[in-house]
Amino acid sequence: MPGRSCSTPWLLSSPPVTDLREQRANPLRTPDDKRLPQIAGPSGMVIFGVTGDLARKKLLPAVYDLANRGLLPGGFTLVGFGRRDWSKSDFQAYVRKAVDEGSRTPFHENVWERLAEGLEFVRGNFNDDAAFDTLADTLRRADRERGTDGNWAYYLSVPPEHFSSVVHQLDRSGMASPGDASQWRRVIIEKPFGHDLESARELNEVVGAVFDERSVFRIDHYLGKETVQNILALRFSNQMFEPVWNSHYIDHVQITMAEDIGLGGRASYYDGIGAARDVIQNHLIQLLALVAMEEPTSFSPAQLRAEKLKVLRATSAVGPFGKTTARGQYTAGWQGSREVVGLREEEGFDPESTTETFAACTLQIESRRWAGVPFYLRTGKRLGRRVTEIALVFKEPPYQPFSKGQTDLLTNNAVVIRVQPDEGVLMRFGSKVPGAGMELRDVNMDFHYSEAFTEQSPEAYERLILDALLDESSLFPTNSEVERSWQILDPVLNYWAGQGKPEDYPAGTWGPPSADRMLSKDGRAWRRP
Ligand code: BG6
Repeated sequence: MPGRSCSTPWLLSSPPVTDLREQRANPLRTPDDKRLPQIAGPSGMVIFGVTGDLARKKLLPAVYDLANRGLLPGGFTLVGFGRRDWSKSDFQAYVRKAVDEGSRTPFHENVWERLAEGLEFVRGNFNDDAAFDTLADTLRRADRERGTDGNWAYYLSVPPEHFSSVVHQLDRSGMASPGDASQWRRVIIEKPFGHDLESARELNEVVGAVFDERSVFRIDHYLGKETVQNILALRFSNQMFEPVWNSHYIDHVQITMAEDIGLGGRASYYDGIGAARDVIQNHLIQLLALVAMEEPTSFSPAQLRAEKLKVLRATSAVGPFGKTTARGQYTAGWQGSREVVGLREEEGFDPESTTETFAACTLQIESRRWAGVPFYLRTGKRLGRRVTEIALVFKEPPYQPFSKGQTDLLTNNAVVIRVQPDEGVLMRFGSKVPGAGMELRDVNMDFHYSEAFTEQSPEAYERLILDALLDESSLFPTNSEVERSWQILDPVLNYWAGQGKPEDYPAGTWGPPSADRMLSKDGRAWRRP
């Protein structure tokens, strides 16, 4: 295929791209740029760990969906690197299956055929110089024949202990440095970025020795979710929220990420990591940053990340941790009508494992806006249902003109940002119950994405892969954010490390009793989402 035609997108319905640089200057897609979404320029991607779960379930379907939406360049080339003895057609069949099982957009034979032409597989392990030399040849051939133009993203969907070998091999084989100033090489890395501050720093040194910070894209897939980006729209494009978004009006904030799934089959990743490192250190602290930060002077990556970092620098865990945190491990129980086993019976888990599957902690933000407002964060596996939400619970009115009997059923006002699965925003406030008397009760005003929009939200990985190809880094945490998040969490993790086994909670419930106590001691209660 001639290289020059390759920047032509696949679907003609997409808007023309005249100047990608100009579009990139406006990353969060503010209203004056109506031509978005943007289309990636000539490029390709290599996935290390392509036979893993993440690649199969998320990355490969996302690449197809991007192609289907016309957001990839015509000559886009996707190279899988792995140990399997696969031919190009074996790899094509593997990707096709992943696409059939995981893509969100309808299947189009012509889109698939063009994507399949650009699929390549290189066999090898991470210490194999010859395999990386073959990979370098494969990329050079794609540059010549498919017009990828020397622009490559390397997706490290591998455990962090392999980062060093892969990055070193990319460097040794010349793949880490662009041939000239018009080309780029980027590395996309998946969490966990370490297991504490020290290991995160070491990992960053390994990557930073080869790639400069601008070329490193750290994935926190929560930032790729539509509802998470909507936090900025909700707060900063409206007049009604910001004036009350502070300690004068807000009593406390609850950030919940609950899952109903257990850990069957994931012991090798999860055992020794646990819920706090897996979810709080990254996803929940990022949600906190977006909810609590000040308005950035612009939505450029630098300004947005500066504001997030600023609020994270003011954030810390509140003690005494015996009372302000909670930790649990699920035991056998019922998930709806299904009986499920406990963690200790899951395959691969040591029955003596102290890894927590539920974690909660209390954070504070020392700033004028948030002084005295606790942020309660919780996450867990095998909880009542799958839901992620941020609830801002308001203070009681300074004066209540209605009598106690009339307001018995009234609770505090709340704004609830529902991240998933029922995406939307809910406002809870009191209203008069119809009738001759005066009784007040909570009612909800509820915005559902599914009712308000006909457009479907893209999968988080779609957005993030596209952004990495576009050099759009707003939605990727910087190394400083990652390190600061560990600084916030490390004291809690160190305390837990000395506490033996976590408390039990039966599958299908909302965590251990200590989770309830941590709020009830403050006269508050967790929302039941
Ligand atoms: C990942 C965690 O980051 O997020 C998993 O490692 C978790 O343990 C997953 O299941 C949940 O993602 P989502 O998008 O389904 O909420």
